[in-house]
Formats: sequence, C-alpha cells, structure tokens
Amino acid sequence: MSSPDRSPAPPCWSAGRRPGGPLVSGAAPAVLVDEVRERLAGSPGELTPHRVAEALRAAGRPVGDAMVLAVHEALRRDVVGAGPLEPLLRLPGTTDVLVNGADAVYLDRGSGLERTDVTFPDEASVRRLAQRLAGLGGRRLDDASPHVDLRLADGTRFHAVLAPVARPGTVISLRVPRRGGFTLDALVAARMLPGPVALLLERVLAARLAFLVSGGTGSGKTTLLAALLGRVSAAERLVVVEDASELRPDHPHVVGLEGRPANLEGAGAVEVRTLVRQALRMRPDRLVVGEVRGGEVVELLAALNTGHEGGCGTLHANSAVDVPARVEALALAAGLGRAAAHSQLASAVDAVIHLARAPDGARRVAQVAVPSRDPAGLVTMAVAVRVDRDLTVHEGPALGRLLDRLEEAVGDP
Ligand SMILES: Nc1ncnc2c1ncn2[C@@H]1O[C@H](COP(=O)(O)OP(=O)(O)OP(=O)(O)O)[C@@H](O)[C@H]1O
Ligand SMILES: [Mg+2]
Repeated sequence: MSSPDRSPAPPCWSAGRRPGGPLVSGAAPAVLVDEVRERLAGSPGELTPHRVAEALRAAGRPVGDAMVLAVHEALRRDVVGAGPLEPLLRLPGTTDVLVNGADAVYLDRGSGLERTDVTFPDEASVRRLAQRLAGLGGRRLDDASPHVDLRLADGTRFHAVLAPVARPGTVISLRVPRRGGFTLDALVAARMLPGPVALLLERVLAARLAFLVSGGTGSGKTTLLAALLGRVSAAERLVVVEDASELRPDHPHVVGLEGRPANLEGAGAVEVRTLVRQALRMRPDRLVVGEVRGGEVVELLAALNTGHEGGCGTLHANSAVDVPARVEALALAAGLGRAAAHSQLASAVDAVIHLARAPDGARRVAQVAVPSRDPAGLVTMAVAVRVDRDLTVHEGPALGRLLDRLEEAVGDP
C-alpha cells in the first residue's frame, strides 16, 4: 500500500500491543488531571509545567517531576490538537480514527479497523474533545445542534454526534488526509489500479467524458477523483462544489464552493444543490461535485445534459450495478421521477469508475462501467473493464462502446 508519510510512531506504540495506550490513567491518574484542570480553570493563564506543579501542590498532591510532566502533557493534549487521539493520528498510514464513546477507539491504517487501547476517562471528556474540535472549525456542537461535519485547518475531516443521540456515547469520526495527496502514478504504484486502467481513465479525462466515481465508505473515491483532477489540463477551470470541503486536486485553477448548514435560528443554510446552480454561472470548464448525496444529483445531471462536459463527482454505492438505483433514489427524493432520472442518467454520464475495498483493507478500482438502457428505458450498468484483486484486467462487453465514445468525443471537440 502507500508509503508512510507521517512522523514516526510515538513511544506509546510497541509491537504486539494494541495501538495507543491507557490515556491518562497510566502516567497521570485521571483524578489528578481533573483536579488540576479545575484549579487551573479558576485562574486562567498559559498552561505551563510550573502552573501544573503549583496546582498539584495546592491540592496537596505529590509534585515529582515525572508527575508534573505527565499531568501537563495530559492537559496539553486535552487543550490542543485531538487530545488522546493525537498519537493515533500520528501513526504512519493512519486514515481513520473512530471514537465510540469513552471506551472504544478504533483505528484504520490500511488494513481495516483495529481496536486500540486508547480510552477516555469518561463520556464528558469525549464530549469536551468533540466540542473543542467543532469550535476549532468555527461551529457549535451542543444539545440543540448535536452533530457536526467539518474540515479542520490541517485538512482532517471531523464528524461528531453527541450522546444521547449517538450510542454508546459521543461518536467521533476523523478522516486523516494524506499529506500532499496521491498522484495518479502514486495510486498505480500503491496498486489501487493497474497501469492500463490508469491510461484508460486518462483518456476519459482527455476526451472530457462525464464520469462518477462510486464505491463504499472509505473506498478511496475522493482520493481517486482528486488524483484524476490533477491530470486535467492546466488550461481548464475547475469549479468544485462540496458539502464539507475535502478535495484538494493538484491543479493550478481550482475554485471551491462549500455548503453550510443552517444556524441555530434555522437561517443561512447554503445547500450543495444551490451551489451547483451557482457553479454553472462561474464559467466552469469542469463542474465537480465532490460527493453527490442529495438533491444536487438533479442539477448535476441537468448540467451534464446541457453542454457542461467533463463533469464528475463521487457517489456512494456498494457496486457499480447499484449506481442507477442510488441515483434514482436521490433524484426521487428531490422531486425528479423515475423515468426522468434514468433517462437523464443514461445521457449525462459516460462512465462509472467503481472502487472496492477488500477485507484486508486493500482499495482498488474494481470496474469501469458504462450506463446503458434496457428495453424498459431503465439504466443498467455494462462492464467495460473489470479488475481482479490481483489486478488482472478483464475486458467486459461494454469496452467497445466506451472506446467508441472516446473516439467520438475526441473527434468532436
Ligand atoms: N490507495 C490508497 N492507499 C492508501 N490510502 C488510501 C488509498 N486511497 C485512499 N486512501 C486513504 O483512505 C482514506 C479514505 O479515502 P477517501 O476519503 O478517498 O475515501 P472515500 O471513498 O471518498 O470515503 P467517504 O466514503 O468517506 O467519502 C483517506 O485517508 C485516504 O488518504
Ligand atoms: Mg469521499
């Protein structure tokens, strides 16, 4: 898989153990940390080991150097960064850190989910961390508005739902971006797709065909789309619309539009749907919808059918075959009927690139498929190329059609 690009493992990590380590409880007892936190909260100021020592002394607690430093470190983690999750986020290859309440923290660093030894002292500290991260992203998270989805300044995507809406406690999901992202070549080297399929996808881009990247959660849709956009001609203007800004293509001309939820008074929401309409007035050479997951599917399909070539986006679907049903469901919820949704999809989208993730965590392009219509007018997906887990490439029945479409498009600029 990918080469690690993060700083080395923190000392709490050692082979044979689960990642992480007892949070505060090992080095600095949680009760001490709480006591010092409370005392320091009473007299605001910078968090220094000296002040920690004073607070410990005032509480009649032991004030050895090691204890002062351990309490200081525990508090510092609580105040800056992602608290006790920080060491996990810094492990090489970490892509996701998931917190299910105080007692269960999971990690994905390329080989699927692993339970870690990290725990929080209690639910209140998970909640505090979630609220602080929301605050860093400029958003509120409380009982009146118990969920949040945003991008932190370092690019980490942060999602949280407070308990009791979430069970077994406050649930936090962090998605770590890879520093520098992946180029298409790097994805080929990481065995996400075989070279010949990368060449085919480059032709899809060059011919300005419209495409969707589909796949399950965390299958690499956003990563592949960003890598593909990095191969778009520098002369083109990309307008990227997203719910929570995530795509960072390595391209010189990118304009981004990001939706936002309503404020507590219920005003000020900016929907992705609206932004797709705005994007069309911004002279895009390519309209990119980072993640199609709502009514924006209607605007996107309409745009692709009215001369906005080269448009693309990602769509959550468990197989390429499921894509028409997923588009239909989203379109239906947005008021577009079944027949119209299928006819729009068939004429709008030229290719679907489907990603799969194996149980061992390996992500790969599993299919390139082409929408076609059955006699009833419904869209079915026909396979142009299929890729096995060992990256063997098989031609599918629709390859000829895709190649024809590529030639047609190139001959008809
Ligand atoms: N080929 C790869 N090798 C290693 N890591 C990868 C690879 N592809 C993606 N990743 C990492 O996996 C994580 C998930 O990838 P990504 O965000 O692209 O998935 P997604 O399908 O868009 O997820 P979601 O369903 O949440 O939108 C990211 O942290 C990304 O950096
Ligand atoms: Mg994504």
